[in-house]
Amino acid sequence: MIYIGPSVLSADFSRLAEEIKDVEAKGADYIHLDLMDGHFVPNLTFGVPVIAKLRNCTTLPLDAHLMVEHPETYVDGLAKVGVTYVTVHQEACPHLDRLLQQIHEAGMKAGAALNPATPVATLQCVAPLLDMILIMSVNPGFGGQRFIPYTLAKIKEAGDLLAAVGNKTAVIEVDGGVNADTAAAVKAAGATFLVAGSAVFGAADRRAAIAALR
Ligand code: DX5
Ligand code: ZN
Repeated sequence: MIYIGPSVLSADFSRLAEEIKDVEAKGADYIHLDLMDGHFVPNLTFGVPVIAKLRNCTTLPLDAHLMVEHPETYVDGLAKVGVTYVTVHQEACPHLDRLLQQIHEAGMKAGAALNPATPVATLQCVAPLLDMILIMSVNPGFGGQRFIPYTLAKIKEAGDLLAAVGNKTAVIEVDGGVNADTAAAVKAAGATFLVAGSAVFGAADRRAAIAALR
């Protein structure tokens, strides 16, 4: 089973509610929300108050990807809103173990994201705690970038790591440059959650775009 999560980063920000309803109607499985703070990444998007409003626009589960410094300060707010997955960047978390526990204690699923240059082995110690490994296949911060081919090997490594620690429930998500051309290789490498921003919101026929990814 492959799950498709359109990233609203490529949606029309002046019509976010309509855009989310549109991709829900056209076959999305969840909504991927990119929180950016202008510090961890050189771009700024939205925070918890906007997500709280968007929560009422869809029945789909929300998948929050935190590209921020001090991600621990967002956890309680995201829990109140009812977000399903909270994924934090390994590179932003000197106390990753503590933060994963904090996310679980708040009642949400916990993911760890890796920039292209960060090895999968950096998650070895916390792998049993994870509900998701997010392999970034572009450098985070912007939509519409080209898929970085060497990240395919990291998807496979992430699967091997989860298997090695006996974690049978965590999913592998891939984010960045996922489109009809790259999705097959991403799935073949072992990913089951595909994020797509420009390939869905930029498509003339979004239903066909989601079907093509699946
Ligand atoms: C990038 C974000 C992605 C982005 C992907 O930093 O994390 O979710 O929206 O955009 P595409 O699919 O256009 O590469
Ligand atoms: Zn993302």
